[in-house]
Amino acid sequence: MLKSLKSLKFYTKYYLTNHVIAHIPIHGLRLFWYRRCMKIRIGARSQIWLGCRFFGDAIAQIEIGSDTVLGYGVTLNAAAPIRIEDHVLIAAGSMVHTADHDCQDPNFSVRTAPVTIQSQAYIASNALILKGVTLGEGAVVAAGSVVFQDVKPLAIVAGNPARAVGSRVKGNPPQPILEAPLFC
Ligand SMILES: CC(C)(COP(=O)(O)OP(=O)(O)OC[C@H]1O[C@@H](n2cnc3c(N)ncnc32)[C@H](O)[C@@H]1OP(=O)(O)O)[C@@H](O)C(=O)NCCC(=O)NCCS
Repeated sequence: MLKSLKSLKFYTKYYLTNHVIAHIPIHGLRLFWYRRCMKIRIGARSQIWLGCRFFGDAIAQIEIGSDTVLGYGVTLNAAAPIRIEDHVLIAAGSMVHTADHDCQDPNFSVRTAPVTIQSQAYIASNALILKGVTLGEGAVVAAGSVVFQDVKPLAIVAGNPARAVGSRVKGNPPQPILEAPLFC
């Protein structure tokens, strides 16, 4: 009985977070919910735009630094901790996954590993970052890319699987935060 009440509470919170709160066009209210009810650590001036979704048992181990933006409809699947540092931009529709299933295992077991996105990284639209990956400081992931291996600092990677296509200039000032649109 107690167990089912606990899971009702858990899934109600999920439902509210991803299907109700995520679509309320009041940024401060969403941030309040994410911080206070979901226990996500979110630094100063960071923005989480409309339609972002949070899943997984480790939601409370999601850490978002300061001056970071999660664009429209970004998904963080936190079966393991996700650390996103400062001045990061994750563009619309991108997903971070910390789990998959072992497809060779008859039990289809779940495998998890944390993801770290270091400061100044830029993940363009609809990219997929898979479990265990660390994106180095200032790394860039091109639109629609699938990243399953670590990316070196300042590297620009693209494609599926993502491969290095260039590198960023060293020593640029911190990536400026986007100006939030009215209903972000
Ligand atoms: C990451 C990005 C900014 C890189 O731009 P860039 O440094 O000017 O890179 P280039 O356009 O010179 O491309 C470099 C190489 O990567 C390849 N490439 C670029 N983007 C790619 C992508 N999304 N998928 C696969 N390959 C890609 C190019 O074909 C080129 O390959 P080549 O050298 O063999 O010709 C750009 O590719 C991108 O993804 N833009 C983001 C778009 C977006 O999401 N906008 C909205 C959110 S802000």
